[in-house]
Amino acid sequence: MPSLSRHDPKIKIPNPFLVLVNAMLAQQDVSLNSSTMESPDSPAAAYPPRPTNATPAQYLDYERGLWNHFLLDAAWRRTRFNAQPNALLVEAVRGRATGMALDVNMGEGRNALYLAQHGWQVTGVDIADKALAFAQQRAQQLGVLLTTVEHDVTTYDWGSSQWDLLVLCYADESTHVASVQAALRPGGLVVLENFHRDATHTRGSASGQVIGFATDELKSLYSAAGFEIIRYEEPIGVADFSRETHRLVKLVAQKPKVAASADR
Ligand SMILES: C[S@@+](CC[C@H](N)C(=O)[O-])C[C@H]1O[C@@H](n2cnc3c(N)ncnc32)[C@H](O)[C@@H]1O
Repeated sequence: MPSLSRHDPKIKIPNPFLVLVNAMLAQQDVSLNSSTMESPDSPAAAYPPRPTNATPAQYLDYERGLWNHFLLDAAWRRTRFNAQPNALLVEAVRGRATGMALDVNMGEGRNALYLAQHGWQVTGVDIADKALAFAQQRAQQLGVLLTTVEHDVTTYDWGSSQWDLLVLCYADESTHVASVQAALRPGGLVVLENFHRDATHTRGSASGQVIGFATDELKSLYSAAGFEIIRYEEPIGVADFSRETHRLVKLVAQKPKVAASADR
């Protein structure tokens, strides 16, 4: 029987995603620098503190372990996690022709699996190998094809005019405009949801770092890159990932169907 999965174990340089994790944990009065960090609502599922003076490789290993832990922890999933597909994504693809989709920082596959079930050919990239394996297991249970790639997104080659849909759902702190611009086919869609800059204050950051996207930042950058902004909102609402209420940023943007001509 042919394999339903493809798993590419290339690697690895860190990204600044720790700040999001710290903010998530800070809301529970827990920091990665704490010596007693535990999963919320699951004291038995303790997680070790972040190593001090970590090298980039150690940092990435720590991130991988942290997300492997939280994304698969039964108590965290039950009480803090939204296992349903992201509502913005569901609305954005409704009635749209299917095609090739890349789910950046896919996690445990809630969005990728939804797309695969609705006819998309989906690739999910993430560093959390156990979360990827979880997604593959679910894909097989559901009888859908899902390609998973274990790779650091900061060094991952997104390709050129390759995707009809890019999903950046609580992915990281980067706008990814250049990568999205290059990787989408003409007419392709990017769906991005994450925290607004205001969440820096409402979530709190143990490290004191700024998180989220500034007012109109994504709209301006994607507009300047030639995208049609199909939807842009900055509501205060429940994050469609970890069930926290903060100001959010929601973007749906389309790459032009025909490349702009310099002659006109
Ligand atoms: C907040 S979760 C979001 C998961 C998923 N997009 C969702 O909405 O359910 C962030 C994900 O980013 C992944 N991640 C963090 N740093 C990464 C990196 N440098 N490269 C690839 N994935 C990374 C984590 O493993 C985790 O699965």
